[in-house]
Amino acid sequence: MTTNSDNIQKVKVLSKTIWTPTLFSFTVTRPESFKFTAGQFVRLGVNPKQLKYHIDNPESNVINEVIYRAYSIVSSPYDDNLEFFSIVIPNGAFTSQLQHLEVGDELMLNTTPFGFLTLARYQQPLPKDLWLLGTGTGLAPFLSMLQDLKTWEDYEHIILAYSARNQNELAYVDLITTLADNFGGLVDNPAKFTFIPIVTREKVAGALNRRLPELLLSGELEQVASEKLNKEHSHIMLCGNPDMVEDTKETLKQMGLEMNRRGEGNIAVENYW
Ligand SMILES: Cc1cc2nc3c(=O)[nH]c(=O)nc-3n(C[C@H](O)[C@H](O)[C@H](O)COP(=O)(O)OP(=O)(O)OC[C@H]3O[C@@H](n4cnc5c(N)ncnc54)[C@H](O)[C@@H]3O)c2cc1C
Ligand SMILES: NC(=O)c1ccc[n+]([C@@H]2O[C@H](COP(=O)([O-])OP(=O)(O)OC[C@H]3O[C@@H](n4cnc5c(N)ncnc54)[C@H](OP(=O)(O)O)[C@@H]3O)[C@@H](O)[C@H]2O)c1
Repeated sequence: MTTNSDNIQKVKVLSKTIWTPTLFSFTVTRPESFKFTAGQFVRLGVNPKQLKYHIDNPESNVINEVIYRAYSIVSSPYDDNLEFFSIVIPNGAFTSQLQHLEVGDELMLNTTPFGFLTLARYQQPLPKDLWLLGTGTGLAPFLSMLQDLKTWEDYEHIILAYSARNQNELAYVDLITTLADNFGGLVDNPAKFTFIPIVTREKVAGALNRRLPELLLSGELEQVASEKLNKEHSHIMLCGNPDMVEDTKETLKQMGLEMNRRGEGNIAVENYW
């Protein structure tokens, strides 16, 4: 249903998955005309009064208005529904309300897709390897790309490194471990896929235990990926915590990699706050 602004539409919550007390995912209906590219984000709106359960904050002067925030799309551009992956920030204007959404609730969706963290930003010829490095909910745009068959066709090796504080905050691991079969399996000569989970605040078998810049400087990330980062062969995307983005970007630059500008260069980034 169209509201007073042409590109704002109401969408209905279809499902909700709670990963931890501070992380959840949800799916909503997809407006028929809404198109996006894997890696893009939208603006989602919540009117707290329209949630079945909401919290009245006497200090807030926005309680009766729709609050909007940027959200990366998790689902592929070909899915019937739209999926999102959300943090819960205690006292955050948006997520302290959004965390209470239930199936059947309505959200507002600004159907203008935003953002340049897309694989189309890289010009041909394509290098052979794609490094997707994310923290927390910064995993979201990478899941969309990895559910797009073209990604599996265009690269020889895709490396996904996903860093969370604790093991229980590594969401979507079941989906990630079936991506190569479910999506790569549908194309001829698909990319090899390496998933590198990183858990920084506890030791976990099968996961690395240090921050991304340290793992790059020590060579551990390249070693686990069995791949070398270099100017000619690597596309690198960073998404999530802005400190991670900044520190990792600087480390990569020290290693001789370059920011992607006007299609040329290796590194593309998106900060979540
Ligand atoms: C391009 C873009 C895409 C985004 N995509 C997503 C997404 O897919 N999922 C998502 O949960 N958030 C995403 N965000 C962040 C989102 O827009 C909101 O900031 C988030 O929903 C919190 O809103 P809030 O009003 O509760 O708190 P805010 O007042 O917006 O934020 C308060 C503080 O919480 C912390 N914070 C905010 N967002 C996050 C986060 N995602 N992870 C960890 N700490 C955070 C920061 O310290 C921030 O200063 C994105 C932001 C941008 C700019
Ligand atoms: N238990 C809780 O109370 C709890 C739990 C999770 C989230 N939260 C809330 O959520 C917010 C953050 O969420 P989040 O889980 O996405 O946390 P985050 O702080 O972004 O951490 C996610 C991952 O990013 C790493 N990271 C942080 N700074 C980095 C840097 N400069 N370089 C490389 N890696 C870096 C973290 O490593 P490090 O572990 O080394 O920082 C962690 O592995 C917090 O502000 C908090 O409000 C609370």
